[in-house]
Amino acid sequence: MNILGIETSCDETSASIVVDGRTVLSNIIASSAAEQSAFGGVVPELAARRQLECIVPVIQQSLSEAGFSWNQVDAMAVTRGPGLLTSLLVGTTVARILSSVVKIPLVGVHHTMGHLSSPWLDCSEDIFFPILSLSVSGGHSEIWLRESHTKQQLLGRTRDDAAGEAFDKGAMLFGLPYPGGPALSRMAVGGNPHYATFPQPLHAEKTCDFSFSGLKTALKYAMRDRGGFAALSVDERRDLAAGYEFAICSHLLSGLQHAMHMHSGIRELHIVGGVSANSRLREMLLDFVRTQSIALRMPLKLAYCTDNAAMIASAGYFLLRDQPLKASEPFATQASVNLQC
Ligand code: KG4
Ligand code: ZN
Repeated sequence: MNILGIETSCDETSASIVVDGRTVLSNIIASSAAEQSAFGGVVPELAARRQLECIVPVIQQSLSEAGFSWNQVDAMAVTRGPGLLTSLLVGTTVARILSSVVKIPLVGVHHTMGHLSSPWLDCSEDIFFPILSLSVSGGHSEIWLRESHTKQQLLGRTRDDAAGEAFDKGAMLFGLPYPGGPALSRMAVGGNPHYATFPQPLHAEKTCDFSFSGLKTALKYAMRDRGGFAALSVDERRDLAAGYEFAICSHLLSGLQHAMHMHSGIRELHIVGGVSANSRLREMLLDFVRTQSIALRMPLKLAYCTDNAAMIASAGYFLLRDQPLKASEPFATQASVNLQC
């Protein structure tokens, strides 16, 4: 089944053609992140204006790169939320209009379910449930126990900031532009993660939940106690960045360890979302799975870690395959039912 995916939940406008949930024929991504960096975060009004400008050319390019015409598209999938309302409206409105004009089914996909499907993209190996999935991005940090593509249970979530937000806010203290996660990670390379002491959030609780706000405060105080950011040497900056990154990753790992302890029979561990691009996190999780008899899987390309439409097309395929739309319902009803968050 050939699915055209559309993702516009934040500052990326993306469209993709994916075959049977796995084979990516095109994955076009336009981003206003560079413009947003001047503001230290995403300005919803600016993001939505860029979505409006980019959505039609991005869809056209996704079709032409795949060598497709509309009659080869079997269904469409669009991010229905969560995300910035004005950005989401651009994608969902365009998708509804296209699907009713071209007369192909449309399925609404939860953004997180898109990220959870990203390890299937371009993957030719068999993937086995039950899966423990760590979904970490700028908007959420969650641990899911997945029994199938359509059956899953939320085991833990952040009680304050998301992991990506913690990276971004920490990066701001180092004077790095938004989105700061990749830049902070580069700054931390070769640093001593034990140079400063960071707390272990929720350590006393046996929980799969996360809390990152204390780590950000600890970083702020560590800088203040050393005379402030401007007084830090290059080495001190590198060591503090390494310590902060290590503390975030250790906290994510401890949530996963607790989830593994609580649930037996897990066959695979997945990390998805923007923060799954982090090399320190990948190293620590690889060390962890070596001690367990489970596979570690992550999106095969960095473009599948951050927001993209291929993951939405993939999740849409599995939704349609496992819970087909009822042919007896008029199309408009199907679309509206499936687009409810
Ligand atoms: O999934 P995503 O593209 O968008 C959301 O749904 O939020 O994730 C973006 C987040 C940002 O907070 C960004 O700083 C973070 O992912 N990120 C990273 C890395 N690459 C992206 N954080 C740490 N290390 C990275 N290499
Ligand atoms: Zn995302």
